[in-house]
Amino acid sequence: MPNAYISGTGYYVPPTIVTNDDLVETYGVETSHEWIVKRTGIEARRFAEDGVGTAELGFEAAKDALASAGLTISDIDMIVFATLSPDYAFPGSGVLMQRMFKVAELETPKFIPALDVRNQCSGFLYGLATASSMVQSGGCKHVLLVGAEKHSAALDITTRGRTVSSLFGDGAGAVVVSATDEDRGMRKWTLGADGRHAEELCQKVWDTSKRPFITLDENGNGIVPPEDMFANMNGRLVFKNAVEKMIVALWEICSDQGIGPNDIDMLFFHQANMRINQYVQKQLGLPDEKVMHNIDRYGNTTAATIPILLAEAERDGKLKPGMKVAMVAFGSGFTWGAALVDW
Ligand SMILES: CC(C)(COP(=O)(O)OP(=O)(O)OC[C@H]1O[C@@H](n2cnc3c(N)ncnc32)[C@H](O)[C@@H]1OP(=O)(O)O)[C@@H](O)C(=O)NCCC(=O)NCCS
Repeated sequence: MPNAYISGTGYYVPPTIVTNDDLVETYGVETSHEWIVKRTGIEARRFAEDGVGTAELGFEAAKDALASAGLTISDIDMIVFATLSPDYAFPGSGVLMQRMFKVAELETPKFIPALDVRNQCSGFLYGLATASSMVQSGGCKHVLLVGAEKHSAALDITTRGRTVSSLFGDGAGAVVVSATDEDRGMRKWTLGADGRHAEELCQKVWDTSKRPFITLDENGNGIVPPEDMFANMNGRLVFKNAVEKMIVALWEICSDQGIGPNDIDMLFFHQANMRINQYVQKQLGLPDEKVMHNIDRYGNTTAATIPILLAEAERDGKLKPGMKVAMVAFGSGFTWGAALVDW
């Protein structure tokens, strides 16, 4: 059985920076820089321009990851695209991104399979477990795994929606997961879900238990009330469960490998809330230099947070071959996951 390792990392964030003060001054949200920073650690986020969708953000990150792996799209056997903000209800953003690579128009067309993963903030780790398993089974040599979000299109950037909209930003990260005979790469992943809390962090938009799935007005136009159109979140319940599940998941991967948290060289947290991550870090006794954050600059980019962090750490020279790298995430579903990789 080959090992599966991350052979390339990449990221893309749109150029427009929206600071906490911009939320107040440009969007008229009754909030403050101090309120947001104190509770979340977020100072700014990026918003993509009109006309740019999630697949396009993913495409930019994917090109970066392929270049970093020294591969071209023709080397890729499968695309896994993790997002909670897909361009359309269907088809998935994976096929839209595949189309941007024009692989079906090559002299020798390549119809790369594309799988969308819908596991919100845990999407990248669900995708990493999937991509690694595809590689370890021998079914694929190189899998292109993308986490991308265009949140700004579906945020209620008003005082009504401030609890959710002040947290999220746009961005994309990508990795290539490749086969190797070397003794490195994925050591252990764990995933979990607790569907009892499905509606505690949820954006419904429609409801297929009803016919039609969106209420129609007298002219036959769909009406989506704000409580369905935008995400709702029980912030305190999310906070409590995130802390608990992330600690348990990290202990699980460490004990499986016979190591303690102290043996981790770098820990990459999903970037949802600086306070959640600091609490978990403290419980595990990890020093600051082993933990990377970028939530201050990008906010929560959901499926993109961990691959963006990996790409930034690699470019900064902080992530080096041989390091023991842990990743952990928690999000809507509730879902969670953790992975331990020898870089
Ligand atoms: C979202 C979160 C920061 C809210 O903090 P909190 O202390 O729980 O705040 P509450 O939701 O209880 O709201 C307290 C007050 O602050 C207000 N408030 C919420 N967002 C605000 C904002 N951006 N600016 C100013 N006030 C805000 C609320 O309206 C509420 O006002 P009220 O008491 O007059 O009704 C916090 O619950 C959290 O971080 N949870 C985890 C969220 C997360 O990580 N989500 C992503 C998961 S993947």
